[in-house]
Amino acid sequence: MSNEPTLKRILTGARPTGPLHLGHYVGALENWVRLQDEYDCHFLIADYQALGDHLDDILGIRRSVLEVAIDWLAVGLNPEQSTFVVQSYVPEHAELAMLLAMVTPLGWLERNPTLKAEREQIEGDGEGARQQESSGRGERISVGFFTYPVSQAADIALPKAHLVPVGEDQIPHIEMTREVVRRFNRMFGDTFPEPEGLVGRVARLPGTDGQSKMSKSIGNAIYLKDDVETVNRKIRGMYTDPTRVRADIPAEPEGNPVFAYHDAFNDDKAEVNDLKDRYRQGKVGDVEVKQKLAVAINRFMDPIRERRTKYEEQPQAVAEILMEGSRNSKQVAEATMHEVREKMGILYLKDGGR
Ligand code: TRP
Repeated sequence: MSNEPTLKRILTGARPTGPLHLGHYVGALENWVRLQDEYDCHFLIADYQALGDHLDDILGIRRSVLEVAIDWLAVGLNPEQSTFVVQSYVPEHAELAMLLAMVTPLGWLERNPTLKAEREQIEGDGEGARQQESSGRGERISVGFFTYPVSQAADIALPKAHLVPVGEDQIPHIEMTREVVRRFNRMFGDTFPEPEGLVGRVARLPGTDGQSKMSKSIGNAIYLKDDVETVNRKIRGMYTDPTRVRADIPAEPEGNPVFAYHDAFNDDKAEVNDLKDRYRQGKVGDVEVKQKLAVAINRFMDPIRERRTKYEEQPQAVAEILMEGSRNSKQVAEATMHEVREKMGILYLKDGGR
């Protein structure tokens, strides 16, 4: 088996820490589905990475591995065409992560803005956090968490990926990956391509509460697995323009999350334009704007729901898809690791140890 793919490769993935939502769809998943014909795609369920901040919920990770795979199948990722991989089933991820950690300066991790924001969130800056002696500052973040961007670089480098379609927050990790592989290539000879990042059509979908980002941890998300009733309820309760207390007040659709969703998901552009016009003139109520949005989002989600039902009925088949994909990916990984050891000159005993 050649280790140089004929098609260019994609490696991207998700941590199995809960269901995927509409923000994931427009930020990344949509690209993944679209690019399957053009690239040899490897989709990674990064369970080792998830341990970094979910060590106390391994059962949740376990549950979420299948849940994420089902979300992927539901949006139209095709395991006949693409490879689904569970990180821990290909231990070469850990081996390459360790080697790439050797070529990664500490400062690159300290400066990584996404990691920095996450570290601050975990450490907290409140008085309460400081008083808890058992896990004071310096004890809340594990070495494993701190170095996860290096393990992510290894995820990408292992199949020699060229393109990494991800959400906006992941871009600093792709930048760092480029620097890490450049450094590796310079030290040990050309081995890995420098991967490009690619962000989706809507880099940042607001939450239903109007906050700038849809997020599971904030609880402002519409999940790909939500049924019609749940979607209707979430949209009915959506945050809109708080200054518009009556339907006859003219207002701007820009910056209103209800219209942001219309733009992202309503394929009836004439309807969207009509709603925006009437909104600007004070001739439409929030209720109608939301009702039409709920219809549009449910229309968008119906084919996803249909595919989901099929897979939910056969979890064993989904598990098989992950096993088979992991097996295939392991062959690629073994070939890369052999090349890496060779290039680094650490096959010490090859010629009888001389
Ligand atoms: N950090 C990514 C996330 O939280 C998941 C991930 C792990 C990943 N390894 C990757 C994404 C490699 C792209 C490439 O969603």
